Amino acid sequence: MSTMTINGRTASLPDDPDALLIDVVRDAQGLTGTKLVCGAGVCGACTVLVDGEPVVSCLMPARHAADKSITTIEGIGAEKLHPVQKAFMAHDALQCGFCTPGFIVEAVAFCDRWRATKGTAAPSREEIGAALSGHLCRCGAYDGIFRAVAAACSGQFDGDNFASPRVEARAKVTGSAKYTVDIHHDGQLEGVILRSQWAHARIAEIDLAPARAMADVGAAISLLGDDRMVRFVGQPIAAVAAKDRKTALAAIAAITIKSERLPSVIGLDAARKPGAPVVFDKANRKKAGNVSEGAGGPAAWNGNVRGPSAAFSQKPKKVRSWVSEARAANNPLLVEEIFRTGTQSHACLEPHATVARFDGDALTVHASTQNVFHVMELLAKRYKLAHDKIRVIADHVGGGFGSKGALGIETTAAIDLAREAKAPVRIAYDRHEELAVSGYRPAAEIKIALLPSAQGGLKALSLTAHADTGAATNSTLAALARLIYPAEAKELVDFDVISNLPPGAPFRGPGGPPMAFALEQAIDEAAIRMKVDPIDLRKRWDPYPNRQRLYDWAASLDVWRNAKSAAPQSSRYRRGVGVATGYWLYLWQPGSKVDLAVVGGRLVASCATQDIGQGSRTVIANTVAREFGLEPHEIEVRIGASDLPEGPGAGGSRSTASMIPPALLAVQKLKAAIEQNAKRKPVKGSNAPWRELLAASPDLRVSAVRPEDDKPTSPGVRSPLKEAGFMGVIFGWMLRRFSNLAVGAGVPSSVQVIEVEVDTWLGHVRVLNIHTGIAVGKIAAPALAHSQAAGSVIQGLGYALYEARETDPRTGDILTAGMEDYRIPGIADIPEIDVHFDEGGFDHVLGGSVGIGEVATVPTSPALANAIRNATGIRLTEIPIRPDRLIAALKGRTAA
Ligand code: FES
Repeated sequence: MSTMTINGRTASLPDDPDALLIDVVRDAQGLTGTKLVCGAGVCGACTVLVDGEPVVSCLMPARHAADKSITTIEGIGAEKLHPVQKAFMAHDALQCGFCTPGFIVEAVAFCDRWRATKGTAAPSREEIGAALSGHLCRCGAYDGIFRAVAAACSGQFDGDNFASPRVEARAKVTGSAKYTVDIHHDGQLEGVILRSQWAHARIAEIDLAPARAMADVGAAISLLGDDRMVRFVGQPIAAVAAKDRKTALAAIAAITIKSERLPSVIGLDAARKPGAPVVFDKANRKKAGNVSEGAGGPAAWNGNVRGPSAAFSQKPKKVRSWVSEARAANNPLLVEEIFRTGTQSHACLEPHATVARFDGDALTVHASTQNVFHVMELLAKRYKLAHDKIRVIADHVGGGFGSKGALGIETTAAIDLAREAKAPVRIAYDRHEELAVSGYRPAAEIKIALLPSAQGGLKALSLTAHADTGAATNSTLAALARLIYPAEAKELVDFDVISNLPPGAPFRGPGGPPMAFALEQAIDEAAIRMKVDPIDLRKRWDPYPNRQRLYDWAASLDVWRNAKSAAPQSSRYRRGVGVATGYWLYLWQPGSKVDLAVVGGRLVASCATQDIGQGSRTVIANTVAREFGLEPHEIEVRIGASDLPEGPGAGGSRSTASMIPPALLAVQKLKAAIEQNAKRKPVKGSNAPWRELLAASPDLRVSAVRPEDDKPTSPGVRSPLKEAGFMGVIFGWMLRRFSNLAVGAGVPSSVQVIEVEVDTWLGHVRVLNIHTGIAVGKIAAPALAHSQAAGSVIQGLGYALYEARETDPRTGDILTAGMEDYRIPGIADIPEIDVHFDEGGFDHVLGGSVGIGEVATVPTSPALANAIRNATGIRLTEIPIRPDRLIAALKGRTAA
């Protein structure tokens, strides 16, 4: 038997010729810091050092490691952190942390090479980008990574004097942070799901017996619904659990199925044609998925088209008559256009995964989820178990972006298999499943008409959106235009178009980015036609005070001022600057609690929320530490388990606004309790600062629930739902009643200015710089907020330029099933991102903070398209803005 050395120890290698190095590292050696993501060598998450050289272990046959020395993330900095690890911590070069071990292993090799030849000279951004270009970070922590690698190479972290703004950073840079995919119990089986290969079929018979009869198979179950229908390629049909994945795959191949194929329809255009095959008949409409954060309201169905879903229009008849009059009169100010947006995959680096285990009648579920508490509630209902019999755990979550908010089939299937097998079961999606069936931001077609008045006001606005939701409903795009640009009349209409594609899912600001792609370009076009500066026009049409301040900031940027005086261009490379505005609802979750305790003189804060990379642990630690005059790392924060006090989900940018107010109330209560005790037992020889009072305090515990907000006092800050009238109030009531989400007063806002260079020969767009101004109140954790804002912008860049989930229009099968085909932004694509926070406007919220994640991504695609318009005179109406689309648009203009 051959052997290798791994982190200084000798380890044997399997004889299996199919075994990959990553299997040995993770499964046989239990070194789970090395992550499996793409399985194709394109994301770099599995990078290890082989004889000192970085290698992707997902492609390397294990036997090729014979007689070699392997170093994993656990072997780097085991005794003393490497300067790269310290720099990653200090510069907050990570969010969810799932990509971090791979980046660090590569960066350590680069840094050591660099230092050996270049001393302490700092590498350039281009040199760092080239060195790390084989790695992907879906959270978009690239800005911090650039700074961290440059600082480590230039010797700034050779010493030990550094601080980390993220409280769990050490676990993430050393590979000790445990994610759901890393959990392993004794006797654990591997679960695999058998999925439909048909877009539409009725399953007449399914025989699980051949799978059950196989050696080492612990369970096989059907996942069919009561109607025995499958409505998309990839829909779960059955699942098995076996001693390993190879056996489980063989077992699902042994299951026999008899099915009746049914006519199917794929995509928006085909599904809304008269006579198209109907995906959900009347009796089964409730089986459709949900593409939004909240429950949907009632809406009419017409074949596969559902809607309009909510009446947020004002005087819609007037809109129609004014627009048709303007059209008849050839009014040059009337902007009419149809915009199309692409389908964006969440592409979380940690896949959807669950490990389920029964101990008697108690159920423990490790889940990669955005919602530990709510998932526990749903499981309790489904399995008729008391809350204290279920524990849902998510210590660390490798990204979610909206796709992990609901109770998923990977969770219920793992539980059902564990029950049947009487053994713990893990289900972890492979990359194909993750990209095929775990959700996506639906593509959309948005028809817009915008009519300025003769006096320069906004007279009429019409948006009609059709969203390509697959086997799901409840898209909200056009209705979001109620949050901005008050007009004399608005017609805002949303339709879902259902087809035999996997269901879409909520994705960072559901509906916001596609709506803004249309509306913010229409505003830009109106400004051009009215011969008004686009920021000045927004200032005129958008009186919301928080955004007025952002407009002033944007107008003062050099890049904006210089662009105004630029001469017309005719060269191959043309530069342009664009601006766009973003807006999102301020959401918080009623019932959210924070417990605060003194335990052995140490402060412990507890909340059943989770950290998916957005920084919940740090937000709680910072909030409590600040009030007691302590350092954040002195606070022990317990999150990521459903048996803690009820906490918020991580969706809709609700976490911060749900956690800080109860944390502050709990601080007040605990201080009072400590003082009361201190009066009885004063601290000798002390002026009783909190550190000493805590050290002398007996163990105490208090709890606080998220209070209602005060009435806003800042002028112009009001409830957007009340402003939307009766329907807005009804919508708010439904959201609170059925989704436990409250809509607060004020609108989280952002304004982005982007400069691009367009290669008019090849159609490439190079983003030169991005400035993003964000108004979400006080910033609770500045370094993390900066990173999250930049990461949201980077996802917006991907949406605008690269990302498109493609399916075969005949079969409904996915074509972009690997990270090599589904292109997300890499480190070398990213320009410097300047983040500006305006901290006013949310004084009515205890603590003054609301969430960042959604609003920062909304304006990126239109700002970029407006910059291209500024550079070339061409308005791109479809994203992603691929080179071929840009060239075609440029040629069309030339031909015209
Ligand atoms: Fe890179 Fe989350 S921090 S994928």
